[in-house]
Amino acid sequence: MSERGSGNEQMSGQAGEIRVWVDGERVDPRAGSIAALDHGVTVGDGVFETCRVLDGVPFALSRHAARLDRSLAGLGLPEADHAVIDAGIKDVLAGEPIAFGRLRYTVTGGAGPLGSERSTSALTYIVTAGPQPPNPATGKLVVVPWTRNERGATAGLKTTSYAENVVALSYAQQRGGVEALFANTVGNLCECTGSNVFVVVDGEILTPDLASGPLAGVTRALVIEWGRQEGLTVREGPLPMSILDRASEVFITSSTKDVLPVHAIDDRAVKSPGPVTERIAAIFASLSRERLDP
Ligand SMILES: Cc1ncc(COP(=O)(O)O)c(C=O)c1O
Repeated sequence: MSERGSGNEQMSGQAGEIRVWVDGERVDPRAGSIAALDHGVTVGDGVFETCRVLDGVPFALSRHAARLDRSLAGLGLPEADHAVIDAGIKDVLAGEPIAFGRLRYTVTGGAGPLGSERSTSALTYIVTAGPQPPNPATGKLVVVPWTRNERGATAGLKTTSYAENVVALSYAQQRGGVEALFANTVGNLCECTGSNVFVVVDGEILTPDLASGPLAGVTRALVIEWGRQEGLTVREGPLPMSILDRASEVFITSSTKDVLPVHAIDDRAVKSPGPVTERIAAIFASLSRERLDP
């Protein structure tokens, strides 16, 4: 067997559990289903969304759909047909309910030239769902030596060009981190590879504003809204990286992690879970169970 064949076999146990739907039909996750010239494959010209699935039910679908539309518009791609995406979602979530997992859908520019220029072609739709391992109770963040470009052409868009995140997450994991933490180009706190970051200073919850360059996370927005609704002070703004030294608590948020307390940033220990983080995690857990499409 070729090296490539044995690599595929190593992946089969995991890939076998992932349900994949492409352009209208359910496909074998290990078989080819995307054109080699798809612009999403050749240059990362596409966008995606990841939603949490609990007991077979996806969370916050409307907010994810709205963000997908913003990402497509930001890339200059045509509007997506949400009826197509919804059909894919229905398909991959049918059958045995996924107890805890993720639904991910991707829309790319479709077949295109080999370079960065675009041709007019039909969008490619990919919808997948599968289980995921439970999250740790707390995690360590590793500050990476690379920056997020808050003034870049794709700042704030959830595009499939995620190689920077792959490199940064690998750097963090090699150092025992659950996530990598980026500053932006002016040295302010920004976000992680797939999560937003919050700090607690003098009892107030602070998070970088969107002008600092993070993705407008669905979980981030709900933590801000629901936290304020429940009487907590939550503020957005530019935050210097030095705020980390003053933070009594730190947590990160994402669709797959919900609210995850942070117990260390590099070699510095942080109280975890602190009382404010516990409170916001409880608020998020309870309201997200009650309101499935907030
Ligand atoms: C770069 C980045 N930041 C933040 C987040 C968190 O966003 P959400 O809460 O919508 O999952 C994600 C994950 O989607 C992400 O990819």
